[in-house]
Amino acid sequence: MRSAKDFFRPLAVGAPAPVREVPFRPSRMIHFFDPGNEKMAAKVPSIAPQVDVLLGNLEDAIQADRKEAARNGLVRIAKATDFGDTQLWTRINSLDSPWALDDLLTLVTEIGDKLDVIMVPKVEGAEDIHYVDRLLAQLEAKAGITRPILVHAILETATGVANVEEIAGASPRMQGISLGPADLAASRRMKTTRVGGGHPGYLVREDPSASDAAAPRATFQQDLWHYTIARMVDACAAHGILPYYGPFGDIRDTLACEDQFRNAFLLGCVGAWSLHPVQIAIAKKVFSPSPADVAWARKVIDAMGDGTGAVMIDGKMQDDATYKQCLVVSELADTLAARDPELAEAYAAAEKE
Ligand code: GLV
Ligand code: MG
Repeated sequence: MRSAKDFFRPLAVGAPAPVREVPFRPSRMIHFFDPGNEKMAAKVPSIAPQVDVLLGNLEDAIQADRKEAARNGLVRIAKATDFGDTQLWTRINSLDSPWALDDLLTLVTEIGDKLDVIMVPKVEGAEDIHYVDRLLAQLEAKAGITRPILVHAILETATGVANVEEIAGASPRMQGISLGPADLAASRRMKTTRVGGGHPGYLVREDPSASDAAAPRATFQQDLWHYTIARMVDACAAHGILPYYGPFGDIRDTLACEDQFRNAFLLGCVGAWSLHPVQIAIAKKVFSPSPADVAWARKVIDAMGDGTGAVMIDGKMQDDATYKQCLVVSELADTLAARDPELAEAYAAAEKE
């Protein structure tokens, strides 16, 4: 048994006190880069101001014999770069790999003061978060870090999905969860061979025509990820942490990427991963509420006064529940506008219209 009072006690003597609320910082795109790749590393200073989160990836996509180069590269880059108000995250190797422990040891002791969030892949249950939680506290104490490093879990195993609520609430360090559709598909033994997005075989078909059984029947592709995203969003909302869509692997299919990101946004996600610079602009567009939606939300908020009762605006009924939805949109717009002057201008212009 663990007392609720102990939840916010540091897990090591000298470690910083855990946060009581996840800081809501813009994280529309978590931009992945390989820190061991010299060409990518050279672009970090110019990419950093364009993204909300820059993530040095140490896990999948980094070959086994380049793991150390990636880890050391991240240390070098973090020490040499001023990230401004762009967050620096890393994705460490999975906890069942021979590299995870050294990832944590090196990164926290060398650049722990620069790292905002550590993404942990293939999380299966609360025990994985507890393991990382205690290690981080020990390492923070050792390194004299004064601000706790937060933890982000990737939801990418069937067991992880079954335990998503306990993962979301496993530690005050939990910042958020991303859907990892590629590993999740493999873990579930789905029959897809892609990274996220839909599949032409997963569809529903229109009923046959009563008069012509041979007439063509329309089909509609369905969303393979709806259940998991919705479940993840609920788990995150229940625990006050943030949900994200993960990777979309078909870099050339910018249209389907935008659709996948937008579905996630509408269902409650705050961001997605960008695997290529072309996906940065997509995430920025999708995960920033549109100026028209923000103007509408503010109109409703103004008309609702203290938020009680009901009013009609343009033939649409507004009450406490729409007022709260509008607050979500308006508060998100305020947070994003504070970081993004172009967006601030677009929101102000739309309100004047
Ligand atoms: C991400 O890591 C995924 O497996 O989709
Ligand atoms: Mg994965």
